[in-house]
Formats: sequence, structure tokens, C-alpha cells
Amino acid sequence: MSAVVVEPNPVKFEQPTLPSAEPCVVVIFGATGDLTKRKLMPALCRLLDQGCLESVGILGIGRNPMSEDEFQKMVREALESSKKIEHLDEEQWRKFSERLHYMAGELDDENTYNQVSTRLEELAKEGASKNRLFYLATPPSLFSEIVKKLGESGLANEDEQWSRIVIEKPFGRDLESAKALNAEVLQVFKESQVYRIDHYLGKETVQNILVFRFGNSMFEPIWNRNYVDYVEITAAESVGVGSRAGYYEEAGALRDMVANHLLQLLTLTAMEPPVAFDADSVREEKVQVLRSIRRLKPEQIAERTVRAQYGPGEIDGEKVKGYKEEEGVKPDSQTETYAAIEFQISNWRWSGVPFYVRTGKHLGRQLTEIAVHLKRTPQALFARTPDEEIDPNVIALRLQPNEGITVNFGAKRPGFEMQTATVHMDFCYASGFGVESPDAYEMLLLDVMQGEATLFIRSDEAEAQWRLITPIEEAWASRGEPKLATYDAGSDGPREADELLARNGHRWRRLDETSAGCE
Ligand code: BG6
Repeated sequence: MSAVVVEPNPVKFEQPTLPSAEPCVVVIFGATGDLTKRKLMPALCRLLDQGCLESVGILGIGRNPMSEDEFQKMVREALESSKKIEHLDEEQWRKFSERLHYMAGELDDENTYNQVSTRLEELAKEGASKNRLFYLATPPSLFSEIVKKLGESGLANEDEQWSRIVIEKPFGRDLESAKALNAEVLQVFKESQVYRIDHYLGKETVQNILVFRFGNSMFEPIWNRNYVDYVEITAAESVGVGSRAGYYEEAGALRDMVANHLLQLLTLTAMEPPVAFDADSVREEKVQVLRSIRRLKPEQIAERTVRAQYGPGEIDGEKVKGYKEEEGVKPDSQTETYAAIEFQISNWRWSGVPFYVRTGKHLGRQLTEIAVHLKRTPQALFARTPDEEIDPNVIALRLQPNEGITVNFGAKRPGFEMQTATVHMDFCYASGFGVESPDAYEMLLLDVMQGEATLFIRSDEAEAQWRLITPIEEAWASRGEPKLATYDAGSDGPREADELLARNGHRWRRLDETSAGCE
């Protein structure tokens, strides 16, 4: 296969200056937890560094009794070990640490909230803003209690100041619990105060799906059932379950990845153009897609879904254990570490076009990609034999790693004979723009601090996602069909996933099929 590589744009792109956050205090519940250390603190530190957080303070709340100095030491260590912060210099740390405050307290105790309220008043007297952004970075089992207590203590009220809440995933574990959580949250906060996070929406390349589709006139005319044969959405991870077995045993790949990230990628790929690029217009169109996806009937689930678990194998030359041997996993665990599903969208644009999604841990390589397979030409004009099939065109949006877009098409091979070959045209983010993209959490935190909700999940969207996933979870649990398959760690996934597509004459792209142009 030959390659046509688009030259990097000769214009030198400057990193645009980021906008400023509205003044506020970010109150983090779960301030000594993993998410705070790995994601939130590095993102806040980088935003400060870029001049976006002029009047923003941070108040961490955790169960561990520790002094403010000890908390700052913990945060400093987290920043120093973060891949996102290349080098933490003293000046940078001084500026960041002077905004960092800490308070210990039980999250189900109303005194904690009274103390938070008092602390916020003290900080306001010292010059901090009265606006509050509550971030729930705790285990999900605490979400309802924190929301309730925020309501009872008056902290959710908006008088002359605003009050917003960010709720991490998972938002519920099925349709019923998501509805219950929505009801509890909306008793205390208005929908406009609530930001349900899905960090995939903060990835620049995910937002680029909308620009690619709606910022160009070239692709949209073919983005429908008349030209598209099928769509593949892949989120393959080479990492395993790591130290998160406790959580993962309860979640599994379907709840962990499909119910949120993959459905989000699907809605962005399939949605109609919104009337404007604002929170309500975009989210309205996304919800319409979720509503148009056909819910699988119990008897279809055995045929249209695949669940599997990784066995031992090898990744990058290293031997890895099977899932059942991982620490914290039950030796007879039935939790899926891989899921593949065929969705059908019943609407004018997509009727009859399968959308296949797949995700798995400990696969051969990391790859998140949306591949749109176009139909073949009506006549195989250049086939050398009646049976020869010319490869159809594929448009692949690669979200990570080596972010970029590849278009595969046929070209004439040089020579006297009329022979064709598949070539590809590549756009690579790294060489195309030459600047680094902000991390998803930086993007999303800044959005909340600006009151911008387009990249967050609306209440009805969260429920619509579960409405599709819960019947699958239930059928898997009650009928035991399809059976839990296995795949070797380091492979492309189970054979059953290939069979799922082969039934319709389709096939997954290999995980290493992605263009080499951006590596
Ligand atoms: C998280 C899941 O939401 O997303 C993890 O809980 C998964 O299991 C992660 O590894 C993947 O995110 P990313 O940004 O690395 O693709």
C-alpha cells in the first residue's frame, strides 16, 4: 500500500490564548483520591500556568485528617509525577500552592458542610470569589449523599453568586439508578447548574468530529445511508485492569466504556447538524440519535453482542496475566473486559447502516478510531476478473494515539496496465498544527468555570444511554447468552467479534491497519 501524505500546512499555528475562567472556588470532594491527583490537579495547575485561572481558589475536602501543608505536599508530589507537567518550577508551584486549601470531614456528616460554608465565607473575606464549583471526585456511592447535604446546607443556592456541580462518571449503573440520581440532583440543583462529565468530550479530536462533518461541505453529502456501508467505532486499550479491579469487577467493559464514551462517539458521528453550536442545540441532536437507536430485544442480544475476557498473553514482548489472575479479581469472574455491539439507527439518514462498536482491555495496541466504510462503486470498472473486488473507500478518524484523519481510496498503479491499488491520504494533528492539544480535563474544567455546557451530558442524555445498555446487561445476566468468550491478551479481540461482522459481510479494521503516516 502506498501513501499520499498531505504536507503539513505551511502556516505556522500559534497556540491560541485560552480564555479566562470566571472567578470561583473549586471545591473538590474526594481531594486525596486518585482522580484528583492524576487528573484534576495537573489540569488546574496547567490552566493556571496558561493564565486562565486568575481568580480561582481550590478547596479540597477529604476524609483523611491532614494539615493544609500536608495536603499541599501530597499535591506537589502528584504534580511532579504527572506526565502532563514536564517540570514544576518553584515559581509555578508557589503560585499554585497559595490557592490550595484543605479541610477534612466525613461526607455524610452535615457538620462538614457547615464547615465548608464557613471556610468559603472566610476565603471570601480574604478576597476569594463567592462563586462555587463543587466537583464530585468521590466513589459514585457517595454522589447522592453529597448532593443532598449540599442542598440542606444551602451551598447549592445561587444569590448574587453562582453555584455549579460537576458529577463524574459513572452516572448511575443502570437506567433506574440514573433516573433516581437525576431526580435527587435536580431537587437540589437546576439542570443549568449541573455538569455531568464524560472526559471523551474534552478530547480535541473528539470535538473535531463535529468540525470535520459540519465545517466542511465535502463530507456531509455522503454521510448517510446512500453512501455509507457501515461504521466501526473502536476504543482498544493495551492496558489491563491495573489496580482498579475492585471497581472493574462491578462495572465491566459495557458499563465502563460503551455506556458512555462509545455511545458519545456514536452520537457525534451520527447526529444531524445542530441549528447552532450551543449547549442546547448540540445536546438536543445527540439525544435524538440515542432515541433513534433501536433497543435490542432479549433474543437479538445473543446475536448482536459479544462479551469476552482476556486470558494470558503477550503485549510488546512482555508476558501478561489473564484477567482471572489479576489481583482483586474473583477466580471465577464473569466480568467482560471486551464488548462489541451492533447498533442500528432507525432514522431517515441511517436506516440499514450498522454501527459496530468495540472496546477491550489488554488488546494488542491502543487505538481509538471511527472508521466510516463507504459503499463500493456500482460497477467494478477496473476489476481484472469478474470476481475481483476493489477495496471500498474508508474515512478513518483516529482519536488517539497519533491523532489524525485518513482517507483510503483507489489509485492507478504506475505502468502500462490498468491496475489499481489502495492508497491513503493522511492528515496528522501533530505535524499539521505543531502545537500540543490541551488535556481533556483542562478543556472541561475551563468550560465549567465559564458556564459552557455543550461538552457535558444532559439529564435526558444520561438516561437515554442507559436505556440502550441496561437491557443488554440484564440479558447477559439472566440468559447467559452470548456466552463469555475469551481472547489472548495482546490480540485484536475474540473470534466471536469477527463473526459478528462477518454475518453481514463486514470486517473490523486490524488494530495495526491504521495509517503509518502519523507515527
Ligand atoms: C475511563 C475508564 O473512563 O476511560 C477506563 O474508566 C479507561 O477504564 C479510560 O481506561 C480510557 O480513557 P482514555 O482517555 O485513556 O482513552
